[in-house]
Amino acid sequence: MRSSDEEIDIIRKTLEYSATGSTHLEPELLKNPVSHYADPARLAQEQNTLFRQFPIIVGHGSQVAVPGQFFTHDDTGVPILVTRTREGRVKAYMNVCRHRGGRIVTQADGQATTFSCPYHSWTYDLAGNLRGIPQPFGFEGLNKKKHGLVELPAFERFGLIWVRPSVSDTALAIDAWLAPMAEQLASLELGSHHVFRAWTVELNMGWRIALEGFQESYHFCSAHKHTACSAYLDNQSVFLDQYPHVRHAVPLANAVDLRGAPEAEWDYRANYMTQNYLFPCNFVQSMTDHVYIHSVIPTGPGTCVFKCMMLVPASSKTAQENAKAERYWEANYNVVRTVFSEDFAIGEGIQQGLSTGVNEHFVIGKYEAGIQLAQRAIDDALEGRLVCPEVVSLQ
Ligand code: FES
Ligand SMILES: [Fe+2]
Repeated sequence: MRSSDEEIDIIRKTLEYSATGSTHLEPELLKNPVSHYADPARLAQEQNTLFRQFPIIVGHGSQVAVPGQFFTHDDTGVPILVTRTREGRVKAYMNVCRHRGGRIVTQADGQATTFSCPYHSWTYDLAGNLRGIPQPFGFEGLNKKKHGLVELPAFERFGLIWVRPSVSDTALAIDAWLAPMAEQLASLELGSHHVFRAWTVELNMGWRIALEGFQESYHFCSAHKHTACSAYLDNQSVFLDQYPHVRHAVPLANAVDLRGAPEAEWDYRANYMTQNYLFPCNFVQSMTDHVYIHSVIPTGPGTCVFKCMMLVPASSKTAQENAKAERYWEANYNVVRTVFSEDFAIGEGIQQGLSTGVNEHFVIGKYEAGIQLAQRAIDDALEGRLVCPEVVSLQ
């Protein structure tokens, strides 16, 4: 596959780092106060800002492939219902009835033509309009048009579904928001992938601890000594600040062999794992031939959920070839579950020591750059300097 100019630059950096024994360095050490990880007031601020004002990846387009197919998503604390309308548009609604607040859809996923609340059977169509009220004479004078499902900003981009878990009066400029990562996300062609596995892990650690496990590769040859370590160049990540997002490129061990090949033949994808951080809590982790999408969402002080989808490309192979591919993907899935569980064991250990007072701050090294860059963007959002852009009206 042809590499982009950005990818050629990453490869050049890798070759320079390996030739000189250097690596990416931010100018300063970062001292991150432990209160950033442990303070319930700060967590509340993060939940109200990062997890309400910015789009979160909630699924893949194939999970609502046809009109009426739906799934629910509750981990942000907002009950979200995602579906596709008859016209083919992805919509997200508050999964809350406009009569007396019943949870309308109780299944995790399924297929529907309408959504009917189990409490008194008020019924809504796929576009969210209130269509049916049993025994309507008791609601004479009610404006049904004003009692449709409450819509949340939802977008289908690069094959993924993004929802902002709070109502907005103005349209969000999702394309401007994703622009720094657009070229790379488009190149992954996730729209033609399907979900091989999707899973959720409840973790006994603050969400920031889980997040940071994906923002440096310094830990690979310690925490993943017997798994990921040998596959990659040790602590040789290339970080691109694509504010507020971060491209974190981790070279595979054989990336150094590109030195002997002409640049026109350099194949980035075949030689890197890329941990793309999409602010505030999403990762698009591209492997050489498949992709993991994960989001880390706080559920309380010292707890979070890790939601992951393994996306694999569509296949037009024979049944026999498909069975072989299935075994291959399954083996990859098992490896990644092992590697992630190594990260989670470390993170839960950090959580256990968090309240000891041993550390006033954590020291983030100059090459732990993904953490430093994300911290900057998180601070900016919490202090009002970073907002999700809105569509500018041209009238
Ligand atoms: S609360 Fe939904 S129909 Fe009554
Ligand atoms: Fe890890």
